[in-house]
Amino acid sequence: MKIAIGSDHGGYLLKQEVIEHLKKRKIEVTDVGCDVPISCDYPVYARKVTDLVLGKEVDLGILVCGTGIGMSMAANKEKGIRAAVCHDNFSAKATREHNDANVLCMGARVVGPGLALMIVDTFLDTEFSGDERHIRRLSMFSDL
Ligand code: RB5
Repeated sequence: MKIAIGSDHGGYLLKQEVIEHLKKRKIEVTDVGCDVPISCDYPVYARKVTDLVLGKEVDLGILVCGTGIGMSMAANKEKGIRAAVCHDNFSAKATREHNDANVLCMGARVVGPGLALMIVDTFLDTEFSGDERHIRRLSMFSDL
């Protein structure tokens, strides 16, 4: 599995923890930055990750900012991106099964690293259900 990950300054430290965790799991990680926890603009990093996801260079993306919200708003501007803010395991599992979410967004000011790493594992280890009703609903996105 290949993952792209990005953050702004607010998510930098959690991003580094997630990267270490993914490496321990032998998952290939592309870190698009930021590279230092100095004030920067989250849409820049959202776009770098969504480009890799849409280009199929990675399987899934992870974005971390202070809240996860700005990252998800920026990521969801891109057609074909289904970015979900998840701060609990139920949502992480459900958004993969039902929404086929391809980008996980988290807020480093909302969740601690322990829960965040569990959410990452749940998101990465859950497959889209492929149920007809979910495929139908997702296909409606292109008409919105
Ligand atoms: C940065 O201060 C903060 O606004 C950003 O990390 C994020 O939470 C935006 O949604």
